[in-house]
Amino acid sequence: MQNSVASPSRNISIPTPAEPAGKGRELMKSYNIAVIGGDGTGPEVVREAVKVLDAAAKKFSLKLNYIQYDLGGERYLRTNEALPDSVVSELRKFPAILLGAIGHPEVKPGILEKGILLRLRFELEQYINLRPVKLYDERFCPLKDKGPGDIDFVVVRENNEGLYTGSGGFVFKGTPHEIAVQESINTRRGVERCLRFAFEFTRKRNREKKLTLCGKTNVLTYAFDLWERAFHEIGQQDFPDVKRDYAHVDATAMWFVKNPEWFDVIVTDNMFGDIITDLGAMVQGGMGIAAGGNINPDGTSMFEPIGGSAPKYTGQGVINPLAAICAGQMTLDFLGETAAAAAIETAVIKITREKIKSLAAGKMGYTTSQVGDLVAAAV
Ligand code: IPM
Ligand code: MN
Repeated sequence: MQNSVASPSRNISIPTPAEPAGKGRELMKSYNIAVIGGDGTGPEVVREAVKVLDAAAKKFSLKLNYIQYDLGGERYLRTNEALPDSVVSELRKFPAILLGAIGHPEVKPGILEKGILLRLRFELEQYINLRPVKLYDERFCPLKDKGPGDIDFVVVRENNEGLYTGSGGFVFKGTPHEIAVQESINTRRGVERCLRFAFEFTRKRNREKKLTLCGKTNVLTYAFDLWERAFHEIGQQDFPDVKRDYAHVDATAMWFVKNPEWFDVIVTDNMFGDIITDLGAMVQGGMGIAAGGNINPDGTSMFEPIGGSAPKYTGQGVINPLAAICAGQMTLDFLGETAAAAAIETAVIKITREKIKSLAAGKMGYTTSQVGDLVAAAV
């Protein structure tokens, strides 16, 4: 992988819908994808995702153009800058970004998370964080008597508001009287666009057509009052075909373990979504398989394995690339290449069922790149 920030002069265009690939050949669709390997094991897993994307591209006659961006802890330590404005402007020109991981042991917690990941989520208005929770093989589920038929739901996490906006501050910091305030911001517009996305998504998914609002209406009587009113108003008016359900966040955590089969699509705020999707990831087999998409339906979306940079495994070839590969699948799905995306998922299911011993790092029975090879061959 090339390791430089693409120069602003590089002429990046929104994907050309169709471009002639030669006489007598089919028209080839072409997409530009920005690739941020990031920190730790990020670059290793993204390399395998690209390998699998290329296999799918070949099979489905797509042209995928990758432009590598060097962002992350190393770059920050070198330049003292987490994310230059010019890079944000460049990234805006892509329909999709594939991200490995952000987080470096030598950089103070918060700098890279806020400076890169959250900044991109916010500035690119990726107001949805879409996190599927799907169990591919019974062997990987920590829950007793639950199988792939029981664990197949999607969390729609609001991604631009709530406790994540940075609203608040200190008074009398460092004194015995110190006060720390961290506010949850919930705008009608932000909540509504998230809910509408979730309703549309539930309708399109077409399973039980059930959308569960996950909140805390018994305590957070302002924030979730707004959420709950908007949920029922929008549902009643525009999505009468979608069943509406409600669960408190603590009960949701309980049911993820006890009755995960109750869920179809869950919509929730930023903080609750963060927490319940880590639980969701464990239920589906762990961080080795969990992927998510930061979605701006009208702009640049960013797909990532949801586990961290796992610095202790860096460079050893033991980390599981399946989550990154699934992020690649979500990228194609988002770009509208649903058949190619489905082919990746089928290959991932086949390989996890037939080959992989464990989804945990170092226990797969294969190296990182062998898993990539297996999935690419299966595609
Ligand atoms: C996630 C992560 C991030 C979050 C951190 C790294 C800022 O935990 O993507 O879930 O809290 O959203
Ligand atoms: Mn998280």
